[in-house]
Amino acid sequence: MAIFGKDDREHVRLDREKLPRHVAIIMDGNGRWAQRRGMPRTFGHKAGVEALREIIRHSDDLGIEALTIYAFSSENWKRSAEEVGALMGLLLEYFTKELDELHRENVRIRILGDIDGMPKGLERQQSALHAAIDRTQGNTGLNLNIALNYGGQQEIVRAARQLARRAASGEIAPEEIDQAMFAGELYTAGLPEVDFLIRTSGEMRLSNFLLYQCAYAEFYQTDVLWPDFDRDAYDEALLAYQRRNRRFGGV
Ligand code: IPE
Ligand code: IPE
Ligand code: MG
Repeated sequence: MAIFGKDDREHVRLDREKLPRHVAIIMDGNGRWAQRRGMPRTFGHKAGVEALREIIRHSDDLGIEALTIYAFSSENWKRSAEEVGALMGLLLEYFTKELDELHRENVRIRILGDIDGMPKGLERQQSALHAAIDRTQGNTGLNLNIALNYGGQQEIVRAARQLARRAASGEIAPEEIDQAMFAGELYTAGLPEVDFLIRTSGEMRLSNFLLYQCAYAEFYQTDVLWPDFDRDAYDEALLAYQRRNRRFGGV
């Protein structure tokens, strides 16, 4: 029936009171998606940006508090110069084109990862990222976190170093360091822990993503490749989340 589009029905089935506060997504499978079409990997990355737009919009419509997406890991620099160049080009294009709309939608952007540690030649990307953070920092809608030049182990080491520095300077005593203080030194400071972690493309690993924050995340994997992950696939994942029984070590 035309007046009850698929979308509306999915929404009815989702219980808005039981949505995850913080969703994290490992967007994987762009390369394979392109290869299956006989196209270069970069074609898959372009299609992946379209999927990302839809998932951000849907997260915003659903009223999800925080969405963290894995865009580029600290290990992804190992890829060919051509692929890295294409990804960095898409990144710049994305922020140039989308920032106005994201800002209008009251989205707050954070970048998780080492922006200033990006290789030389990416100064335009670095300033676009800083501009997006600065411009949206007063926004109160969806918290959109983009993990870029990000590694979970590196993030934990960085937090430890910052705490060590504070202890060495006498600002804090080592005994005062607890989980809350530690979490306050992570890129995700102030955000809720990850409730739901989605990985597309069938891979069953974390690939150095949010190692600390996913302590009690519900894990969901699908064989769908990232460019095909649309709002229906997302709703299906969220429905699966709502059927989970989270125990946090209790009974
Ligand atoms: C995910 O897709 C995007 C990034 C890692 C930037 P991949 O590029 O990893 O695609 P596959 O896993 O090779 O298919
Ligand atoms: C993880 O995907 C990183 C991103 C999605 C940005 P990869 O494709 O890099 O992970 P591995 O190499 O398969 O573990
Ligand atoms: Mg991959």
